[in-house]
Amino acid sequence: MESMRRQLLQEVCPGPAGRPRSKVTVVGVGQVGMASAVSILLQNNADEVALVDVMEDKLRGEAMDLQHGSLFLKTAKIVADTDYAVTAGSKLCVVTAGVRQKEGESRLALVERNVAVFRKIIPNLAKYSPDAVLLIVSNPVDILTFVAWKLSGFPVHRVIGSGTNLDSARLRFLMGERLGISPSSIHGYIIGEHGDSSVAVWSAANVAGVKLQQALESEQRGAEGGIWTSIHKEVIESAYEVIRLKGYTSWAIGLSVASLTHCILKNLRTVNPVSTLVQGKHGITEEVFLSLPCVLGSTGVCGILNQPLTPPEMAQLCASARALWEVQSKLEM
Ligand SMILES: NC(=O)c1ccc[n+]([C@@H]2O[C@H](COP(=O)([O-])OP(=O)(O)OC[C@H]3O[C@@H](n4cnc5c(N)ncnc54)[C@H](O)[C@@H]3O)[C@@H](O)[C@H]2O)c1
Repeated sequence: MESMRRQLLQEVCPGPAGRPRSKVTVVGVGQVGMASAVSILLQNNADEVALVDVMEDKLRGEAMDLQHGSLFLKTAKIVADTDYAVTAGSKLCVVTAGVRQKEGESRLALVERNVAVFRKIIPNLAKYSPDAVLLIVSNPVDILTFVAWKLSGFPVHRVIGSGTNLDSARLRFLMGERLGISPSSIHGYIIGEHGDSSVAVWSAANVAGVKLQQALESEQRGAEGGIWTSIHKEVIESAYEVIRLKGYTSWAIGLSVASLTHCILKNLRTVNPVSTLVQGKHGITEEVFLSLPCVLGSTGVCGILNQPLTPPEMAQLCASARALWEVQSKLEM
């Protein structure tokens, strides 16, 4: 093969040997991992994508299937292995491995099972990509982001949980449907836990700077029969509903992961609600990770927005922190 290559091609400047510049690793090639990998590939930001899983055949099959699509993609290299050496030199490592919720199971109930999985994964990622940003997706995402932070020894800004980026997208979609306006023009944040105790920041919801507070208040007085307040409930229940209908959620979280990947690889400094250490913010005393609007760039979390909250929103956020701490404090780290 080498002699045929020499006949065909006169090498002039072969380029730097094998050092990727924007490599992304995805750990876990289940539903979420593959939806994330495909969404990342379609964004053309990574020059190499590495996949890792413990299921050898599934991993090889998924990698081959993606490699066969190389003609239609713009990512030079797709690699996969059960050995973490394949992840070396990643700029970003996305962790989607672990067990997922069963129908009706809360995210918090998953914690013990997934902490055990993380003990095998995180030290290996840190070993081969010591300068990477870790983006944790596995549930319960806020607690597992804390676990990944502890296990990696990375500075806190380089360990991020996908958090309520997805919940906020669901909120903006549902609001957009009711208003007949694109979700991209609706600004609404869900903060706190990615899960049952999340907080909808209605006080800041707006369309092109026009606050929705007044409409919300008149609605709360009964004029529109509780449409708005029911949206947050719908957001919380939507994951359970999708799992009931198709067994898992994948596409929206995959797209959300790709969007965060884009911000980090391109150092965009866009504001996204993601899970970060929130101790000392909004009166939170516990060492927990929760989502707040963060400026994201190539170093991970570049800053946390000082978002004004109403007293009830702040109280809900503190309750969210206490609920997580109750589970987290029992973990042996
Ligand atoms: N943060 C979010 O918004 C969000 C949304 C959806 C799902 N999730 C979570 O993502 C996780 C994955 O969900 P899924 O539907 O892809 O599950 P899945 O069962 O389809 O895939 C999980 C994959 O992890 C792999 N795995 C298990 N242990 C491993 C290990 N030690 N090393 C490497 N790989 C390992 C499995 O082999 C499997 O391929 C779950 O925890 C789920 O709750 C998070």
